[in-house]
Amino acid sequence: MTAPLIEAANLEVGFGGGKIKAVRSVSFTLGREKLGIVGESGSGKSTVGRAIMRLLPPTARVVADRLRFQEIDLLTASNRDMVHVRGRRIGLILQDPKYSLNPVMRVGEQIAETYLQHYPAAGGKAAARARVLEMLNAVKIRDPERVARLYPHEISGGMGQRVMIAMMLIAEPEVMIADEPTSALDVTVRLEVLSLLDELVTRRNLGLILISHDLNLVRRFCDRVIIMYAGRIVETLAASQLGEARHPYTRGLLASLPSIDHKVSRLPTLKRDPSWIDAVETNS
Ligand SMILES: Nc1ncnc2c1ncn2[C@@H]1O[C@H](COP(=O)(O)OP(=O)(O)OP(=O)(O)O)[C@@H](O)[C@H]1O
Ligand SMILES: [Mg+2]
Repeated sequence: MTAPLIEAANLEVGFGGGKIKAVRSVSFTLGREKLGIVGESGSGKSTVGRAIMRLLPPTARVVADRLRFQEIDLLTASNRDMVHVRGRRIGLILQDPKYSLNPVMRVGEQIAETYLQHYPAAGGKAAARARVLEMLNAVKIRDPERVARLYPHEISGGMGQRVMIAMMLIAEPEVMIADEPTSALDVTVRLEVLSLLDELVTRRNLGLILISHDLNLVRRFCDRVIIMYAGRIVETLAASQLGEARHPYTRGLLASLPSIDHKVSRLPTLKRDPSWIDAVETNS
């Protein structure tokens, strides 16, 4: 087996001087695969992603037996090392491109700037421009020359997310973390953007962490799925094995999914059992 791209062992993240335990003894590895992290709001999904990127506020307390990205120890790496990891080696896509793009800069210039920042010796502006058009093509934007000249407010949400993906891919990262990348998009656009992401990740042989509260979506696009509840991993399963999930929380999630064949007017409310937290606790 090849070495994992990311490795976390007993990752814990606390806020508020330890009052909030956002992430509790989370362990997983990421290879060149598509790994989903699913769980309800507040279960700690984004905090795991931010811990890897070292983007948590200074008030957060992060401890782990191991937290590594390839040869880099993310617990002890200097901020300078992290500048090289963030964006260049691990790309992050967030929910709403509107907040991640600079509103007063043309889309093409922003992607070019990212490129020059990561590859300052790669042939300057002309090379960057050519690369930008190539990337806009790669994310299936039909008229890249025209789109490159637009400002963020002139493009749709779906196109904005494609631009974000282009901007991230231009740095040629090895891992991408997509945190609810399509939650702000409507259904048809959502599937288009995800298929695109899927294709790019597969073709470039990257590792992808797809964070979402939508089990159906993650099941469809990922190879493996981590299910989080109250800061813990309750179960990790191959997407194809989700039907055989054992944990009552996962089973509850599966049972509450609307399916195309069985129309349900209301989703059943999940019955929670306080023992879910304790049960996992005793295992670790
Ligand atoms: N900066 C912060 N300060 C204090 N508490 C925080 C901070 N960031 C996250 N938390 C808390 O940590 C817990 C996990 O939050 P996180 O954002 O990781 O959840 P999530 O699973 O991504 O939820 P969502 O689906 O709503 O995005 C929550 O209880 C949240 O309130
Ligand atoms: Mg989140």
